[in-house]
Amino acid sequence: MLKQLDELQESALQELERVSTLESLDQWRVTFLGKKSELSQLLRSVGQLPPAERPTAGKRCNEVKIVLEEAYTARESAIKAAVLAQKLTEEAIDVTLPGRPMRLGHLHLSTQTLRQMYAIFAEMGFQVFDAREVETDEYNFELLNMPPAHPARDMWDTLYFNESLLLRTHTSPGQIHAMRKYHPEPIRVILPGMCFRYEQVTARSESMFHQVEGLAVGRNITMADLKGTMYNLARQMFGEDRRVRFRASYFPFTEPSMEVDMDCIICKGQGCRVCKHTGWLEIAGSGMVHPVVLRNGGYDPDEYSGFAFGLGVERPAMLKYHIDDIRHFFGNDLRFLRQF
Ligand code: DAH
Repeated sequence: MLKQLDELQESALQELERVSTLESLDQWRVTFLGKKSELSQLLRSVGQLPPAERPTAGKRCNEVKIVLEEAYTARESAIKAAVLAQKLTEEAIDVTLPGRPMRLGHLHLSTQTLRQMYAIFAEMGFQVFDAREVETDEYNFELLNMPPAHPARDMWDTLYFNESLLLRTHTSPGQIHAMRKYHPEPIRVILPGMCFRYEQVTARSESMFHQVEGLAVGRNITMADLKGTMYNLARQMFGEDRRVRFRASYFPFTEPSMEVDMDCIICKGQGCRVCKHTGWLEIAGSGMVHPVVLRNGGYDPDEYSGFAFGLGVERPAMLKYHIDDIRHFFGNDLRFLRQF
């Protein structure tokens, strides 16, 4: 039996040399140390030996078992170390590689245009005044000289929340907020922001867009001040040689009211598709603040006068960059937005 044990130990160790994966190692353990292994059978048969041989045989059996178990453990950690080492080489990260550059965002074209306008008006002494986008019927219409059922309300297709609350259709209600805040001080503000209309969305009109409202109130403010302001704006935004004209118009909150046109920047006044062959482009609605509106703002129209205007933001940007469809602005297509 002792000889058999020696041979068993030798062949088991030889076999172990060839084991290189955890799966085959487990197989090895079952074969040489498992319940049905040769060693276990030998251990069990020790009791059948003549009593004199039993101690030596039993002792030798246990020795072999310990040798095999230790060899198993050693092999197991060797294999695990090898697996780990291989994983580390395979999944190695080259920390010296340069990083992937992060793409920086930039301002939306509407924001860029707004900021350009802020800068132009700041030079002329206009401060920015923020007003709310959710308005009351009172501010959006009534205080601007349009009582309920006034026909001029038809100029704006309005999105209502309920009978008295709505999304502002223009930035003009901000005029009342500004006057009520500052009266009786003189005022020179622009009121930029989003406006909303229940519109058929087309290449030329969106249901949301920006406006920049302007308001100047004080003593002795005349239409010449309004004209000078509009000239300066057109020339700073679109070039020194711009021509501007004023066309009689109607708005309930100004008297007199005027539409401001500038000569077409595409065809220089010759007539083209963009200006519908008129040679002129409309850039703003404007006028002298109506006495009723001045009074609603807290100013005595016998002592004070003022001018006001409402400018689009997307339209001028479209002209400047030859953009043919206003829907691009809020379509969120990065291919469009990244161009500016
Ligand atoms: N609120 C007008 C609109 O949205 C534009 C406008 C016209 C504003 C004349 C003004 C103004 O301040 O004086 O159509």
